[in-house]
Parts: sequence; C-alpha cells; structure tokens
Amino acid sequence: MSNTITSLTPHTGAEVRGIDLNEGVDAETRAALNRAFADHHVLVIRDQQFTPPQFIAAAQIFGELFQHDKREMHVPGYPQIYYVSNEQTVPGKRYISGETFHTDHSNHPAPPKATMLFPVSLPSHGGDTQYVNMHQAYDDLPEATKQRIEGLKAVHVYLSKYSPRELRPLSKDNARQVPPPGVHPLVRTHPENGRKALYLNPVRIEGIVGMQDEEALDLVNELMTHAIQKKYEYRHQWRYGDFVIWDNRSVIHKANPDYDMNERRYLYRLMLKGEPPV
Ligand code: SIN
Repeated sequence: MSNTITSLTPHTGAEVRGIDLNEGVDAETRAALNRAFADHHVLVIRDQQFTPPQFIAAAQIFGELFQHDKREMHVPGYPQIYYVSNEQTVPGKRYISGETFHTDHSNHPAPPKATMLFPVSLPSHGGDTQYVNMHQAYDDLPEATKQRIEGLKAVHVYLSKYSPRELRPLSKDNARQVPPPGVHPLVRTHPENGRKALYLNPVRIEGIVGMQDEEALDLVNELMTHAIQKKYEYRHQWRYGDFVIWDNRSVIHKANPDYDMNERRYLYRLMLKGEPPV
C-alpha cells in the first residue's frame, strides 16, 4: 500500500496515511516511520483500528514497552496498557491526567522515549492534546541563556513539592517500585536526530543541583514561559482512528479539560523504553 508522510507544522508533527499497522510493516516502512518519528517528533497515523493486543503490537514498531508507574491503572485484562479518562478521580474530585505541560515519567533514570495514545471514546468538541517543540525552543534561546544552563542538572522526583498540579497518589506497592530520583541535564541531545532540546518538567523537577530552590524554580519558570509559546506548538485535534506517538525527548505535552465533562474521553496509552538523557 502506498503511504504518505506530510508535515503538520513547519517544526512539529507529521500525518501518516495509507498504512494499516495491523497488516504489519516491512523493514523499509518500519525504518521510514522511525526516521519520521525522530524528525517530526509527533506522528499522527490515521485510520487505525485496534483491539488492545493490536495497539501493543503497533507500539512495538517503535520500540520496547515501558511499564507505567501506576500498575493497577490498566485496561481490564491488559496490564501493559494504561489509559487516560475523564472518569478518573482523586478523593473528592475529577482527575484529568496530564493537565499541564510535562514530559512523561522523567523521574526515572532512563525515562520513556515515547508515548502513544489511541482513542476509544472522544468528546464531540475539545480535549485536544498540545505539544511544544523543545528543540526549537532551545535553538531560539539567547546565547547567554544557553551558556547559563549548559551543564546544569535537574532533580526529577515522582511528584515535586513545587508541582503546579497533583498526581494521583501511588499505592504502597507501586511506590516501592518507583526508582530513586532522576538527575537529568536541562539540555539533552537527541540520540537519533542529534539536536539539543530543553528537558523540563515542572511537575517533577524539585531542584537544580548546586542551586537554591528559589533560583532553580525561577529558572525553570523562565525557560517554561519561553518554551510554551504558540510558535512552538502543534495542537492535536483528535479523530477516531488516530494512533499518535510523540517523542518525550523532543516535545512536552498537555491534555485539555475544555470539553463537556458529561461526555466520555478515554484513550489507551502506552510508553516505550528510552535511555538516560545526556
Ligand atoms: C498524557 O499526558 O499522557 C495525556 C494526554 C492527553 O490525554 O491528551
């Protein structure tokens, strides 16, 4: 089947058409998809139809599965597949997973390189996922800022005491399996496309090595304010059949709770193993 890969913005996102991932992909198509993933950072592969095992098989075209921290939260019968849903709650209120910009599981020593979503139920309007390009944001920094942040390392914990939002608490069992904090450079180099990127996550960063917390938080806020400008954004409006995979080493992302909460938003979610950021 002939396929096309078309940019969605000049810097982030490409739409892939003409591929049915359930048919399997040959080595050439697999390589082309992985190259497009490294170059475009977000791939939107249209018109897929997945059962849970088919979603797992499609994900593995791009790498090896990474286990989510909240092991009990999974699609019934499929412990590998996490889900996001507007039906989740924390005591006393609704919980929208991923409501502020972040990169996934950056508290791990080798955080997941990629995350994938596949919609099962979508609201009639809204509920987009926003992405911003952290390569582009880094490239545009003033030279003085680049020099100031060169070599700095941030400490990423499960939930920073400075986080702008809550995370669902971990069960005792899951908490025992969370690794020690990840200490990662503020600027990382992508192992496949060779580009530098800001590596920021206000939900998890609790400090910068060798800096007072106040100074560290000011710096993270300053860099985030720069990074989340619209000019770096690709905003994904969901359609049924979209298999979306994004590169956690190149973009940060957030979910939008801007829709009618009486409508169900439910997506399957998987992550792929990555490498320690350098
Ligand atoms: C996430 O942060 O992984 C979820 C994004 C979304 O629900 O749009």
